[in-house]
Amino acid sequence: MDKTIELLLNHKSIRKYTDQQVSQETIDIIISSAQMAPTSSHFQAYTIIEVKDLKKRRLLADWAGGQKWVESAPLVLLFCGDLFRAEKYYEDIDKDALTNTESYTVATIDAALAAQKAFIAGQALGLGGVCVGGIRNEVEKISEEFGLPDLVFPLFLLCLGYPDQDPGLKPRLPQEIVHKIDFYDDRKDQELMEAYNKTVSDYYDKRTDGKEKDRWTERCGKYLSEKPRYNVGEHFRKIRLLKK
Ligand SMILES: Cc1cc2nc3c(=O)[nH]c(=O)nc-3n(C[C@H](O)[C@H](O)[C@H](O)COP(=O)(O)O)c2cc1C
Repeated sequence: MDKTIELLLNHKSIRKYTDQQVSQETIDIIISSAQMAPTSSHFQAYTIIEVKDLKKRRLLADWAGGQKWVESAPLVLLFCGDLFRAEKYYEDIDKDALTNTESYTVATIDAALAAQKAFIAGQALGLGGVCVGGIRNEVEKISEEFGLPDLVFPLFLLCLGYPDQDPGLKPRLPQEIVHKIDFYDDRKDQELMEAYNKTVSDYYDKRTDGKEKDRWTERCGKYLSEKPRYNVGEHFRKIRLLKK
């Protein structure tokens, strides 16, 4: 199989790393790859902050709910949507256009695409990693700690390092559920979902030695109820990203 496709099909989040450090050359390749991601209207509406300071790492790990890989990963990148540069440098613009859901969407997509390119570049170079959105528990504190100006918003971390675990592939939804042709036909979805729930339940059963057997719909519902993160919208309004 083609090497790139093989890499893509073998993605798994890695949360445990060896002591091997990531060289500056590798970091530069990862950032350059991120920068070559497609970007809406060439806006490049994101900023990547490399978090080297251990004190800041500890704070982030703590704010993410005690995610220790944020502290132990040799490389931690904070991906932020960034409309501050637009406000400061774009010429002759209507500033109201920046405090608009469309601009917010553009910046979020740009940051996510850049992060995915960084992730794949890292994986191609033998690294493994995990995104950490748990940091959005504390968007306001992060903005203060990292000196983020208005219109710059923290989205998630990408933690990278040389893998010291092999958690196995996590099963995805059946293709027919996510891949529709010409219109949104969901007539078969309920049945497929039941089968997928069983697959996920078996997966967790095996992975946790019988301690967890959650079905997918159950697990996602629980997660969303526990972490709706209404603080994110409040903070985004405060930094003028979204209108009141
Ligand atoms: C935007 C984003 C945020 C995530 N946040 C977290 C997180 O806070 N903690 C964590 O352990 N995993 C996090 N993940 C990893 C997902 O849990 C993981 O990708 C998903 O369960 C699928 O597993 P896999 O990546 O091993 O295939 C995040 C992934 C994404 C894309």
